[in-house]
Amino acid sequence: MKTTFSIIKADVGGWPGHALVHPELEKIANKKLIEAKRSNLIKSFHVTHCGDDLELIMAHSNGVDSKEIHGLAWDSFCEATEKARDLGLYGAGQDLLSDAFSGNIKGMGPGVAEMEFTERKAEPIIAFMMDKTEPGAFNFPIFKIFADPFNTAGLIIDPSIHDGFVFEIWDIQEHKNVFLKSPEEMYDLLALIGAKSRFVVKRVFPKNSSKLDSKEPVSVISTEKLYQIAGEYVGKDDPVCAVRAQSGLPAVGEVLEGFSHGHLVSGWMRGSHNGPLMPVSVKDAKCTRFDGPPRVTALGFQLKNGILTDPVDLFDDPAFDSVRVQSQKITEYMRMHGPFEPHRLPMADMEYTTLPKVMKKLGSRFKPVK
Ligand code: F6R
Ligand code: MG
Ligand code: MG
Repeated sequence: MKTTFSIIKADVGGWPGHALVHPELEKIANKKLIEAKRSNLIKSFHVTHCGDDLELIMAHSNGVDSKEIHGLAWDSFCEATEKARDLGLYGAGQDLLSDAFSGNIKGMGPGVAEMEFTERKAEPIIAFMMDKTEPGAFNFPIFKIFADPFNTAGLIIDPSIHDGFVFEIWDIQEHKNVFLKSPEEMYDLLALIGAKSRFVVKRVFPKNSSKLDSKEPVSVISTEKLYQIAGEYVGKDDPVCAVRAQSGLPAVGEVLEGFSHGHLVSGWMRGSHNGPLMPVSVKDAKCTRFDGPPRVTALGFQLKNGILTDPVDLFDDPAFDSVRVQSQKITEYMRMHGPFEPHRLPMADMEYTTLPKVMKKLGSRFKPVK
């Protein structure tokens, strides 16, 4: 049977500032999704948060881009926004860029990662959620998981994934996509996705797999860029991603291994700084120091006939303590740069800048260099 797994998220108010989602907002989302389950619109769900982002994880059979599912998410975010206003939370409704829902939530502010696939006999699936960063932050771990044999042993020793995978890459500036095969086109793939603010991995597909349909994605990442949607900076485009695992795919442990580096991502403090991505449990998914450092959480489920088990909080494990310590050390090191690049982003990528004003003020004092 075919199931659709959807993660839809939005920042509809922070507590305090941009640190965390208030539990009252999660309560509202839970209430809305319980009603939707009762009316059989969705089969199962889980509501959670990462930092100031409210996350709706849903399994259903309506396919991707379903008006009903997107409408349900939109209504949940609108109701949560009202509560955020009542409670005086910070930036209430920040990610809802329109007053009226037009049938598809894409381009309206929230982030969406969803895929439809034929369930295997046993279907492990992981939802990854990030705060204080951008969709390109997933390029590095997704490459490692599906293309790097030093990360994923199965690429070498498991015949069912030895042929590799196909990556769908989006150019988010030109709004174009391209499909690249790994390992054959790995260098071209890396040439693109190393430029993570422009080229992002959108989906991954199996290649020549005896166990999976090569037309059905095995991973999908949200690629909305809020500032491009709204024409100006209105908030962070903190991304989410779903990854299926095992039996013809990287194992759960190979998937998690992709996050064992604390790699540098952009989007920290005022959307304008680079910092390490720290894998944390849901209870530690609150952004504190310098509004960060950027965080990622991972919830693992088994899926059967559209029913998700309870989640396992996969980074809630001492095995990731050393990555967290490493991220803290990188935090110290990056913070010591203060306003200097590469802690601060290059001018073109900054989401806050006073530079035009500084240039204007100093205008006539700039003299040609002889
Ligand atoms: C928001 C974020 C924060 C804010 C910062 C300033 O996702 O990353 O670092 O950019 O707290 O926020 P404002 O401009 O709302 O005072
Ligand atoms: Mg916020
Ligand atoms: Mg956020």
